Amino acid sequence: MTPSARIDELRRAIRHHENRYYLDNAPEIADAEFDELMGELRALEAAHPELLTPDSPTQRVGGRASSAFATVPHAEPMLSLDNAYSEDDLRAFDDRVRKGLGEAGGDPVAYVTELKIDGLSIALTYEHGLLVRGATRGDGVHGEDVTSNVRVIRSIPLRLSGSVPPHLEIRGEVFLPRTSFDRINREREESGEPLFANPRNAAAGTMRNLEPALVARRRLGAFTYQVVAEEDRTASHAATLEALRAWGLPVEPHWERCAGPDDLVAFCRRWADARRELPFETDGVVIKVDSLAERRRLGATSKFPRWAIAFKFPAEQKTTLLKQIAVNVGRTGAVTPFAVLEPVFVAGSTIAMATLHNPDDIARKDIREGDWVLIEKAGDVIPRVVGPVLSRRGPEVRPWQMRTDCPRCGATLQKPEAEAVWRCENASCPARLQRGLEHFASRGAMNIEGLGESLVAQVIERGLVRDYADVYGLSEQALAELTSESTRSDGRVIARKFGARNAAKVVEQIERSKANPLWRLIYGLGIRHIGERSAQVLARAAGSIDAIAVATVEALQSTPEIGPVLAESVVEWFSEPRNRDLVARLTEAGLRTEATPEERAAADVMGPLSGRTYVLTGTLASMSREEASAALERLGAKIGNSVSRKTTAVVVGSDPGSKAEKAQALGVPVIGESELAALLAAEPGARQT
Ligand code: IVH
Repeated sequence: MTPSARIDELRRAIRHHENRYYLDNAPEIADAEFDELMGELRALEAAHPELLTPDSPTQRVGGRASSAFATVPHAEPMLSLDNAYSEDDLRAFDDRVRKGLGEAGGDPVAYVTELKIDGLSIALTYEHGLLVRGATRGDGVHGEDVTSNVRVIRSIPLRLSGSVPPHLEIRGEVFLPRTSFDRINREREESGEPLFANPRNAAAGTMRNLEPALVARRRLGAFTYQVVAEEDRTASHAATLEALRAWGLPVEPHWERCAGPDDLVAFCRRWADARRELPFETDGVVIKVDSLAERRRLGATSKFPRWAIAFKFPAEQKTTLLKQIAVNVGRTGAVTPFAVLEPVFVAGSTIAMATLHNPDDIARKDIREGDWVLIEKAGDVIPRVVGPVLSRRGPEVRPWQMRTDCPRCGATLQKPEAEAVWRCENASCPARLQRGLEHFASRGAMNIEGLGESLVAQVIERGLVRDYADVYGLSEQALAELTSESTRSDGRVIARKFGARNAAKVVEQIERSKANPLWRLIYGLGIRHIGERSAQVLARAAGSIDAIAVATVEALQSTPEIGPVLAESVVEWFSEPRNRDLVARLTEAGLRTEATPEERAAADVMGPLSGRTYVLTGTLASMSREEASAALERLGAKIGNSVSRKTTAVVVGSDPGSKAEKAQALGVPVIGESELAALLAAEPGARQT
């Protein structure tokens, strides 16, 4: 067989197995066998690069997102939906639809009911059957170009099957399956990071990540439910869903045809309970008029289509005893209260703890230890205490008072006037070091496998580690002496020596972590407000930890996406001598403190024009458009190809194209050559308006 024929065969087989796994939930081969097929295809493509095509299954990972996602206009606005919360709301919706169609009292209206996926809406563009773009909803008119992240979602085909229209824009939802959500939150909990409140937030955070490989690991799923300008193709929504499926796109399979309001109510009632069995989170039902001709007659308001509504499942609430209000010390020193509850089963899981936000919130709601409290799990997966059940409050129950000392080191807690959070400001507080080090070593940061909660606690307790840099001095001998605990099947916990083999593995992981990309280190340092994404943006824009350390608030703020709060937090962190000393010791230990050229290639230059996008049109007298673009880019600006509301200004020369008109229509400023010259004369470091 020729390599080309084998490549074809492998791609067909891999696509088939991806579909079986991701679309039908019925894999035919083991993961290892699948990986083997992929491995063979990769090897063949490496040997015959001329045979590589962008729709090959090997091309899902490997693309790299640009550092700030480009803004792209949607072919048609992405509307949101009006909500219904009760059966009466559903009947009122049906009444409005019938009135709108002028058919009050006539035949029941035909609807399609679909589960409402708790995710993030996405627009997919296919040209001649090939996936060319994925964009988030954004403000509904413009979204963010997240193509490289969409390409790693396995259930989204890179190439459609069958006969497909040459240009297609498809809408749908990207989501995190329950298992991935739980796993990510478990990891975040272990590393002391704030938990994602719900799969929607987690999916949104994931889609905006700049590392497609990390996105791939999170195993997002997707369902599609809409074709833009579909009325040109089919007569009903049901036919659209069938067409999507036939093209190989994922469609949530539990949709149904319904007629009249009773059917709608029955479907919503059934799924209010049945949803718990689904592998993904759904927060309601979307009801859509089936006939596209009827939809056209109904039209839309400025915000919502009149032919659809989202029924939201009621939040599930339970009452339980609040046994204690305990506090937790986080890595930034924030001391936050949480509720220890008599365990109770709510919405599919047993709840023994719930967040209480902050002492002000507790006082406002008058929540007390010993109260019976109402707890709720709405769309949010993290349970929250709604408030006390006052009728059941016993006479002995006293108002709760926030403690004024740190539960771990005893330091007096501080609370800035303007903030609601109390803090332990003792930088050597073992609780802060513990949480901080767990975060530093966590999968999302320096990714040092094995250095989890238990080991971190022991190295701190034995005085082996006083700050993060000490991790790089840990010896195999010292680690081997620690203990590891495991739980036997009968529930008994047994402790044994960590041992030489495990110790060697951890030391190897520590060693390996030195070569991590710079953003992991920045994120790992645990600077307040600096999350994964802002760490990536900083690493790419600044290029090295030393550049960040000396940057001013103004310079940092001129980086896209870095606002005043983040910028000040970074400057404040580096102004601490002990933090600067820590960075020096980490550098000395051999950690990578510079971004690679590839990482920097996509970088936003930090400059006076950072965060601005200019579009150029027409002929300039003093320089070519290319020269003008390069000069603007050197000052940190981005050059756009098309005008959108997000464009800062359009630079217009003689004989301008339609871009000048578009700018006027959108109210985007138009500037001439003299204003351009003034912009380019700006001193780097000076901020322009
Ligand atoms: S249809 C114009 N169908 O819910 C109609 N939306 O609350 C567009 N969503 O922005 C939406 N599952 O992100 C539709 N089966 C489904 C959906 C769904 C989830 C989301 C979507 C939309 C939001 C509206």
